[in-house]
Amino acid sequence: MSATVAPSSANRDKHGARRPAREGDRSLVDSFARRIDYLRVSVTDRCDLRCQYCLPEDFKGFEEPANWLTHVEMARLIGLFVDLGVSKIRLTGGEPLTRRGVAELAARVAAMPDVRDLAMSTNGTRLARYAADLKQAGVRRLNVSLDSLDAETFREITRRDRLQDVLDGLQEARRVGFESIKVNCVVHSQTPEEEVARILGYTLDNGFILRLIETMPLGASGQQFRHVNLNEMGARLATRFGLLHTIEHVGPGPARYWSAEGKSPALGVITPMSQHFCASCNRVRLSVDGTLYLCLGQENQVPLGAALRQGADDAELQRLILAGIAAKPERHEFVTAPRRIIRVMAQTGG
Ligand code: 5AD
Ligand code: SF4
Repeated sequence: MSATVAPSSANRDKHGARRPAREGDRSLVDSFARRIDYLRVSVTDRCDLRCQYCLPEDFKGFEEPANWLTHVEMARLIGLFVDLGVSKIRLTGGEPLTRRGVAELAARVAAMPDVRDLAMSTNGTRLARYAADLKQAGVRRLNVSLDSLDAETFREITRRDRLQDVLDGLQEARRVGFESIKVNCVVHSQTPEEEVARILGYTLDNGFILRLIETMPLGASGQQFRHVNLNEMGARLATRFGLLHTIEHVGPGPARYWSAEGKSPALGVITPMSQHFCASCNRVRLSVDGTLYLCLGQENQVPLGAALRQGADDAELQRLILAGIAAKPERHEFVTAPRRIIRVMAQTGG
């Protein structure tokens, strides 16, 4: 569907009247012919955990609150992307549920007529309290991070004693009922495979989809860890748990999946290091201050938030978005230039 045809909040003026149609196809296609239809929005860079591969205990790089976009400003920028053809939005962080009013922001985004999918990535610590509100707001799918089912190991990895809160959150999310609940588990060379097997047993029992993610060298925290090839670990675990049916693609996402015969996917691997998927990348990221990051593994960025606060109108902001997309880098260089990215995942938005 062409983004110029269907009305959305962004191509109506403040009285709700349709603005004149614009010339040409303005959908978001980059210079490598990739169609960008997915925007990940970091609603905060703060987090109530300190995962070793993500944030140092005493992280000093958080954004000044004065620069945090308000929900109204975020919704405006999101609306401009939607108007240009983005149809999938994910709210992320930091930990999105540490920011007040996220469910209201979600409801605002879900109400945009051209938003087909609204999802959230969360560490789960506050899900027990918010799952019902998120579902009510129109969030369809959840990704919840979980790296260990052992309370002590969880505390070591995240530097916080919150495993039970996350498990309570997952049970509440299950009770509320989302279209899908995925559990994301970051795996590196020191992660025991038995630990991962235990999580897979748990996700299979609960009807969650487990996705294993190779650690990326994001910032000093991420650069401390070495990835392992998760295609191989995934295949071993799949065999062990009788998940013999491989599914190359489920939607346009980067994961490869296994399932039991005739069942939906149960185990997936995301392998940015051992087998990157940049050629089919369909996403860009907006950070809490409205910086548009074009690639997780490159510095290319567009200061949309600053332009917005300097009074740019919608047309100007959309020109900046289009120019950014046109300059989206071909791929990350995590393997060949592992020290390049000094920002951590919580800053860009996971
Ligand atoms: N490499 C891979 N994944 C990471 N995450 C955070 N930092 C890294 C990293 N350096 C993951 C979190 C969460 C998701 C948002 O990003 O564990 O699952
Ligand atoms: Fe927080 Fe996620 Fe980073 Fe862990 S990985 S510290 S949960 S933002």
